[in-house]
Amino acid sequence: MGSDQTGVVTEDAALYGDSFADVYDEWYADMFDTAAEVATLTELAGDGPICELGVGTGRLAIPLAAAGLEVVGIDGSAAMLDRLRSKEPPPSLTTVLGDMAAVADVLAADPSTAAMRFPMVMCAFNTFLNLSTEAAQQRCMHQVASILTAGGIFVVESFVPAQPSEIEVESIDESSVGNGVVVHIHTDPHTQIVRGEHLEPTGTGLRRRPWTARYLHPAQFDELAADAGLVPIHRWSDWHRAPFDEESTTHITVYRRR
Ligand SMILES: C[S@@+](CC[C@H](N)C(=O)[O-])C[C@H]1O[C@@H](n2cnc3c(N)ncnc32)[C@H](O)[C@@H]1O
Repeated sequence: MGSDQTGVVTEDAALYGDSFADVYDEWYADMFDTAAEVATLTELAGDGPICELGVGTGRLAIPLAAAGLEVVGIDGSAAMLDRLRSKEPPPSLTTVLGDMAAVADVLAADPSTAAMRFPMVMCAFNTFLNLSTEAAQQRCMHQVASILTAGGIFVVESFVPAQPSEIEVESIDESSVGNGVVVHIHTDPHTQIVRGEHLEPTGTGLRRRPWTARYLHPAQFDELAADAGLVPIHRWSDWHRAPFDEESTTHITVYRRR
C-alpha cells in the first residue's frame, strides 16, 4: 500500500507524519545542517519553481521560498502541513496534501498546481524511503520524471544501509532523540521493509509513534531512477558536496531527466 490509483492519501502516506508532527522540529533540530542544505539546493534550483516531496514542517521549503523561489510542497500528513502553516510561510510556498508516490496525479488534480513542470524536484532526509513498498517507490520515480522539465533534476538524500549480512532483524535501542525514547525496529532483509516504532514514556504510559520504510542501497536508487529515465550526475556524502565513497553513511544524489 502507499497510495491508490487516484493519488488519494492512504494510511501509509500519513503514518510517519501523523506519528511525529508534534515533536519533529524539537527532536530533530540538531540533526541537520540546514544552512548548507538550503545553500546547495538554492544553487541547484536555478530560477525554480521547485517541488519538495514530503515537505513536512517546512524546514527546507520555508527558507527556500523566503529566498525568492516558488516552492510546491506535497505531504501525506495533514498534521505536518498544519505545523508548516502555523509558521506563516511566504506566499511563494504552496502546500498540497497527497501521496508523493502519486505526485504528478496529485498536482494535476489541484487547480493551483495543475500543469506545473519543475526544473528541480527534491526529497530530503530519507523521506523517499517512507514509501514502504517497491511498487510505491517505482511509481514515485516515474511520477517525478513526468513533472520534471526536460533536463530537470531530482535531488534525493538517503542513508546508506548496512550490508545484508550486518542487518539486525529485531532491535531495541535508545533513540538519539533522548528523553528515554526507545526505538523498536523489525527489518525484513529480503523485502528491505522496516517496521519501526518510537516508544516515548509519558509518565502514565507509553506513547507509540509507528513508522515504516523500505531502505535502498545507492545502486538500487540508480536502478529505480534509470527505469524512469533519470541518470545520476552527482553523488555527494553531505550537503557541502563532499565526495561520496565506500565509507559514506549518507548519499545525496542528483539525477537528471534524459
Ligand atoms: C522525515 S520527514 C522530512 C520533512 C522535511 N522534508 C525535512 O527534511 O525536514 C518526512 C515527511 O514525509 C512525509 N511523508 C511520508 N510518506 C509520505 C508519502 N507517501 N507521501 C507524502 N508525504 C509523505 C511525512 O508526513 C513527513 O512530513
